Amino acid sequence: MARKEKIVEQVQNVEEIVAEEAVVAQEFDEIVEDLVEVPKAPREGIQIGIDLGTANTLVYVSGRGIVFNEASVVAYDLESGETFAVGNEAARMLGRTHDKIQVSKPLHLGVISDIKAAKALIEWVLSGLDPDTYDVKESTLLICCPSEVTMVERESLINLAHDLGIEDAFIEEEVKAGVIGSGIDIFTPQGNLFIDIGGGSTDVGVLSLGDIVVSESIRVAGSRMDELIQKHVQHEHGLLIGEKTAEKIKQEIGTVNERLDPADEKMIFVAGRDNTSGLPREIEVSQEEIRDVLVEPFEEIVKVTMRVLEQTPPELSADIIESGIYTCGGGSLVEGCQNFFAKRLGIQVQQSPSPLTAIAEGTKVLLKNRGNYLVKPMD
Ligand SMILES: Nc1ncnc2c1ncn2[C@@H]1O[C@H](COP(=O)(O)OP(=O)(O)OP(=O)(O)O)[C@@H](O)[C@H]1O
Ligand SMILES: [Mg+2]
Repeated sequence: MARKEKIVEQVQNVEEIVAEEAVVAQEFDEIVEDLVEVPKAPREGIQIGIDLGTANTLVYVSGRGIVFNEASVVAYDLESGETFAVGNEAARMLGRTHDKIQVSKPLHLGVISDIKAAKALIEWVLSGLDPDTYDVKESTLLICCPSEVTMVERESLINLAHDLGIEDAFIEEEVKAGVIGSGIDIFTPQGNLFIDIGGGSTDVGVLSLGDIVVSESIRVAGSRMDELIQKHVQHEHGLLIGEKTAEKIKQEIGTVNERLDPADEKMIFVAGRDNTSGLPREIEVSQEEIRDVLVEPFEEIVKVTMRVLEQTPPELSADIIESGIYTCGGGSLVEGCQNFFAKRLGIQVQQSPSPLTAIAEGTKVLLKNRGNYLVKPMD
């Protein structure tokens, strides 16, 4: 017993000595740190890809992946001009502000309409990157744009990058990034047709050998669908509803399926302001009436796709018959979208595996492969 107590005492002594030594070592380190300035690791220049969409903005950063995926909305204080919220937080303030703050969407119908808000949005996202590790000013920036933006609009995007202090910036078309981000190898002599139905615009493009062969863009997409739903509810039900409510109707019961099984038909209750009395009122909206509203914008997308197909060189047309059409973008999530196109165009249609993030994911390859069509980055 006495022997055991002796051993316990010895172990305790050893523990005390070890603890004392650790304190001394820490004090020593602190003194050395104060005396010697330890050089920091050099900051890295990075590759940044931005899908600046009408509805959502996504930012890809090399080595990190997608670091931002939120609504394209900015809130700023009108007196100081200071940004105080961006993304989903700012989107919740839309239509609910007072006169001291402004909530802006930088894009309208696929193009930048408020350059100040666009700059504030990107600046905010990039300021979230650790400045000790990443040197944003030394980075390469890729901004994606709809296929039909003018030279002036392209220049304003490049100027935007320069305003952020980034010299090395370039622009690529969204369809190109989207098709690559969907995992389709466009770096072969094989034609692919891609339809991106976003919030503000729908882009249709045929791609082969790493670039766009034919493309067209129309300003008919998710926002137009919401607008048509708002008009329909006002006209048929005498009720004024907000943009958000119309979008909710589209997302929850929107369909372009030709046949709706009455047993499975979905209904939705929505509230708004009565056209005549001005009082709040709630109504029930049916899936069938919304289907009839949504068919019109989808027919317009079919028309633009036909125009693109008519301009497609015959060899590539033959490829498209074989490989089919790919869809992406939030608008392609409307129920029955792929069947609708397949029926109207007589070509099989597949949904992108990542319809909402494909463009941002595609920037990763485009940043690596910048302007070089001869390498095959998909290998
Ligand atoms: N489940 C859904 N069903 C129907 N529509 C949807 C669904 N989810 C999102 N959307 C719609 O998709 C649109 C946003 O899509 P997306 O994020 O691809 O647009 P964007 O890239 O911001 O716009 P753009 O490319 O036109 O500038 C919105 O109109 C939204 O209402
Ligand atoms: Mg988009």
